[in-house]
Amino acid sequence: MDNDVIFQPLKFRNLTVKNRLFRSSISGRFDNYNGSGNRARINWESKFAKGGIGAIITSFVPVHVRGRILPNYAMIDNDDKIPFWREVGKAVHEYDCKFIMQLSHSGRQRDVPGVENLMNKSLSSTDNMDTFHGLLCQAMTKAEIKETVQHFADGARRARAAGLDGVELHSSHGYLITQFLSSAINNRKDEYGGSLENRARFLLEIIHAIRREVGDDFHLQAKISAVDNNNALYPWEKKGNTLEESIQVCKWVEAAGVDAIHVSIGSMFPHPQLPSGGFPADELNWWYGGMASSGKRGFLNYTMFHYKALRPIFLGLWNRTKKDRPVEGVCAVEAREIKKHVKVPILNTGGYQSGALIRKVISEGYTDAVTIARPLIANNDLPHILQRGEDPERPCSFCNRCLINAVANPLACYDQRRFPSREAMLEEAMSVFHPAPYE
Ligand SMILES: Cc1cc2nc3c(=O)[nH]c(=O)nc-3n(C[C@H](O)[C@H](O)[C@H](O)COP(=O)(O)O)c2cc1C
Repeated sequence: MDNDVIFQPLKFRNLTVKNRLFRSSISGRFDNYNGSGNRARINWESKFAKGGIGAIITSFVPVHVRGRILPNYAMIDNDDKIPFWREVGKAVHEYDCKFIMQLSHSGRQRDVPGVENLMNKSLSSTDNMDTFHGLLCQAMTKAEIKETVQHFADGARRARAAGLDGVELHSSHGYLITQFLSSAINNRKDEYGGSLENRARFLLEIIHAIRREVGDDFHLQAKISAVDNNNALYPWEKKGNTLEESIQVCKWVEAAGVDAIHVSIGSMFPHPQLPSGGFPADELNWWYGGMASSGKRGFLNYTMFHYKALRPIFLGLWNRTKKDRPVEGVCAVEAREIKKHVKVPILNTGGYQSGALIRKVISEGYTDAVTIARPLIANNDLPHILQRGEDPERPCSFCNRCLINAVANPLACYDQRRFPSREAMLEEAMSVFHPAPYE
């Protein structure tokens, strides 16, 4: 497999990655409540580096405490976090793997609120609540916009100071930057709302601020939802940004100085189309227990998940638009369209696991590399398997139990069919806590 396209290095302006396989951002509640990090995060990231992945994109890393989606995610809101991230980076680098921090802000889209959010409305582009949980928010003032732009720039400066290899802007999946970009969400009347140019202003200001802070020689990429499909769950919602609009945004972000574009899909997370695959109805109920008192729709959703007779209503809505797309390579076509319009390398997320499909999308010009989340949770050593010219013996089933469990339990594969026993599955899930800090 010497000439395998998957294992050719990928050169960006400021970074070279040894192969075309990136770990996509996956968050797990491994860290301390206050957003400081601990040993489990180092163990977690090391698993993937050891498995042969070329680069890891971190978990969702909040640039400010008001931007977190859950407690127990390590943040980058202060210089005191730099030493921790330096340790994670060092551990990953031992395996010749690059480490890219995903700079993130939740805006109005959160999961479990931390104490800091219980009394506060979230910040957003709009006063309108999010459409899934019904979480309340308030439109940011210009002063808050300016402050938040600087939080992203400070996050990038800290990532660089920690010796990491670059940063990714989480400008997709319905979080704060999407809340500005999306025509379905942003209803502002000032220069940050209305036209596409105005809606992209917040993202472009962040890119310029990061470049001012870290210079031109630090890798910066943006994760963009190529299409919002904001009405995929509730047909009465607005459709949101089209592919044509996203192509224009990608051209602007390239001109503003990003080194790569990571193509994804959807104006919220999870979205019926991403992560693709199943929605395990049996586990919806307890996942949502912790959310029942959140927002205006939390209790309604909980009721639908709790009573088996009501579940088909939600599942009918959720699965409505899934048939339009494949589980594997779910937004490859959009990645190819964006790639035609920009010069910087493209990364594409969504259902990559089989060697044949990955080779096809790279060699046929859909994308320059693929990013992988769930199949790597299932098989941390997927790159080594692919390098042998094989596919995994026990592949990811795309059942999404990892996603549902991640709100409360250690992030891991919870598809028991892949393990000889329940005990074996739980042992694997708990392995993230070894080595323990005091061993
Ligand atoms: C448990 C879990 C957590 C995720 N967390 C993030 C995140 O923090 N940031 C992000 O951009 N995407 C996140 N995603 C989306 C993945 O990065 C990826 O784009 C998506 O799952 C599709 O890739 P896959 O089919 O390889 O899983 C998450 C996905 C899962 C399953």
